[in-house]
Amino acid sequence: MRIAVFDAKDYDIQSFSACGEKYGIEFKFYETKLNEDTVNLANGFDGVCVFVNDDVNAAVIDKLYAAGIRVIALRCAGYNNVALEHCFGKIHVFHVPAYSPYAVAEHTMALLLTSVRRIHKAYNRTKEFNFSLSGLTGFDLHGKTVGVIGTGKIGCIFMDICKGFGMEVIAYDKFPRKDANINYVSIDELFGRSDIISLHCPLTEDTFHIINSDTVSKLKKGVIVLNTSRGALIDSEALLDGIKRRQIGAACLDVYEEEADVFFQDFSGHIVEDDILARLISMPNVIVTSHQAFLTDEALNNIAETTAQNLLAFFDDKMCANELCYRCGNVEECKKKRSARCF
Ligand code: NAI
Repeated sequence: MRIAVFDAKDYDIQSFSACGEKYGIEFKFYETKLNEDTVNLANGFDGVCVFVNDDVNAAVIDKLYAAGIRVIALRCAGYNNVALEHCFGKIHVFHVPAYSPYAVAEHTMALLLTSVRRIHKAYNRTKEFNFSLSGLTGFDLHGKTVGVIGTGKIGCIFMDICKGFGMEVIAYDKFPRKDANINYVSIDELFGRSDIISLHCPLTEDTFHIINSDTVSKLKKGVIVLNTSRGALIDSEALLDGIKRRQIGAACLDVYEEEADVFFQDFSGHIVEDDILARLISMPNVIVTSHQAFLTDEALNNIAETTAQNLLAFFDDKMCANELCYRCGNVEECKKKRSARCF
């Protein structure tokens, strides 16, 4: 079994090589992302393994299919970068639904605490033996209201962490959980009441730019916006404008709308072309990490292990719960529910 791994970083190479040896899978690692220009690198392989910023559009899928590839193994949870509908009937797609929801939820709280207690500023100051406290005043999280959009695996863990801090937690989800003790409110109520808003929903047509110029005007003045989910949940220009107008008090972003061309790479010493990103980063109340929330040892091992299991299931012609298809979950005649593969 030979798999071409795109957008591979040193930490991927480490965890996937170990898994490859364990399960007899030959992984070939490419630094470049998968897109129309690089798709030919997949020729001669049995499958491809991709990450969040590989562009698996219809043209790429056609070329992969023509090259005999029948499986795409996403080594992430989100799959908005894959034209799933176009894959149907041609290429089976698998993802890793959860590798460490704790990693992402804990990173979200790390960003919030960093922002609220000005840790990023204090760190730089004391490195230069500047022990002044001027400008470092924060506020207590205890008693503040946090609004969580998306109450899935990560959102629920983040809510538990917030409760541990004595915060009041309210939530909005298009598909509320029935079994959980969650204080659901309408999205407008959440916008109006929250001191802190954290996004934990997937990127879909419904959630694209869920934070936009209209919604920014509904937010409580001085709100902190956290996004560790997907960049395009936020209209970056509206966010920047809200920060400039002091409507938004701070933003912590692990993801960014146009991250594909910059995140995961070293641009120090280069001129960043993206003016909105540069302006956001220049703000004292904006913290950006480059899609790092998942990056823990536990998560990397789980990603490699689950991806290997997905590939083994595919090549052994077995049903696998991690297979994705555009029909699953919402259409009654979905075959998967009858315990068969998607097509
Ligand atoms: P999940 O599938 O367990 O939960 C997603 C929740 O969002 C569900 O409860 C769903 O009902 C809800 N939802 C769907 N449509 C919605 C809408 N229109 N409005 C409000 N809520 C809606 O997913 P999980 O594991 O909690 O992950 C959440 C997101 O986190 C992923 O979609 C992914 O984009 C992001 N993520 C980011 C990582 C990072 O490193 N920054 C790593 C892993 C995931």
